[in-house]
Amino acid sequence: MARIIVLDPIAQEGLDMLAAAPGIEYEVRTGLKGAALRSALAEFDGAICRSGVTINGEALEGNKRLKAIARAGVGTDNIDKNVATRLGIVVMNTPTGNTLSTAEHTFTLLLALSRRVAEAHMTLCGGKWDRKTYMGSQVADKTLGIVGLGRIGQEVAKRANAFQMKVMGYDPFLSSEQAQKLGIQRVDKVADMFPHIDYLTVHTPLTPETTDLIDSAAIEKLKPGCRLINCARGGIYNEAALVEGLKSGKLGGVALDVFVEEPNTTSPLLKMPNVLCTPHLGASTEEAQQQVALEAVQLLINYFSTGE
Ligand code: NAD
Ligand code: MLT
Repeated sequence: MARIIVLDPIAQEGLDMLAAAPGIEYEVRTGLKGAALRSALAEFDGAICRSGVTINGEALEGNKRLKAIARAGVGTDNIDKNVATRLGIVVMNTPTGNTLSTAEHTFTLLLALSRRVAEAHMTLCGGKWDRKTYMGSQVADKTLGIVGLGRIGQEVAKRANAFQMKVMGYDPFLSSEQAQKLGIQRVDKVADMFPHIDYLTVHTPLTPETTDLIDSAAIEKLKPGCRLINCARGGIYNEAALVEGLKSGKLGGVALDVFVEEPNTTSPLLKMPNVLCTPHLGASTEEAQQQVALEAVQLLINYFSTGE
C-alpha cells in the first residue's frame, strides 16, 4: 500500500479518486508546519498539496520514505525542490487545470479596478448613494501590457482583444509569429512598453529576474495613471513602490491577488483608495479545483503504479 498525505484542502472529487485507487490509502492532515509537518511526512510515501503548506528543507530533511509530492496547481515555490531532489523525492505539478480561471480572475480585477466596483459597493453598503466619486475608465481602446505570455498570459491577451484593448507583451520565449497570431505587439524589453500602456499585468513565476521587476524606477517610467494587476506571485511588484506610486498619483490603481507575505491582512495597500485585493483566489473556482485535484491524484496514482 502506498500511503498518501493530503496537506491542503483539495476538491472532494480528488479524495474520491484516491479512495477508489487500488494500492493507495490516504489521510487528510491540513494546517501542518514545523516539527508536526516533518514527522507527518516521514509516515507517508506520497503527498498532495496546494500553496497553503510550506514544505521547506527542514520539513523534508532526513525523510527516508517520501517518494513523490504532487502540487494541485502551478507554482511549486512552496516546496524546497533542491532538498527534495537531493533526497530523491519527485515534485510534480498540474500546470493547466487553473489557467482559464486565473485568466478570468485577472480580467475580473482589471474591469473591477477600472470601475472602482469594490469601493462603490462598500460605500453603498455603508448607506451612501454616491454617483460622483467613482468615475471609472473604459477599457476599450486602452493598451494592456502583459509580462509573461505562457498559459495564463496568452488567455488574458485573448480576453483583452475581445474587449477591444490593444495588447503589448514581453516574454523571452514568445516568437514574433506567435505574437502576431495572438494580436500582441511584442517588445524586446519590458520597459519598452512602459510609456504606452494604460494597464500592466504580470504572468511569470517569481524568479530572481522577476522579483521587484516593477519597482520605483520602473513605476517612474510608466504612463501616468497606469493601473497594475498581479495574479501571478507576490514580489513581482515591489509593494512599497506600489504604495508610493499610489500616494504620488503616478499609478491609477492597483489590483493584487497575491502578496509577498501570505496570508496578509495588514498590507498598507488594503487601506488605500483605487486598490482592489483578493486573498489568492485566482484558481478558486469549482472547475479549476476539481481539475487540479484530479490531475494531482492521477500523477500520484501513475507514479505509484508505474514509477513514472
Ligand atoms: P507558464 O509557465 O505557462 O508561463 C509563465 C511565462 O512566464 C513563460 O512563458 C515564461 O517564458 C515567462 N517568463 C519567465 N520569466 C520571465 C521574465 N523574466 N520576463 C518575462 N516573461 C518571463 O505559467 P502560467 O501557468 O501562465 O502561470 C503564471 C504565473 O501565475 C505563475 O507564477 C503561477 O504560479 C501563477 N498562478 C497564480 C494563480 C493564482 O491563484 N493567483 C493561479 C495559477 C497560476
Ligand atoms: C498556483 O500556482 O496554482 C496558484 O497560486 C493557485 C493555488 O495556489 O492553488
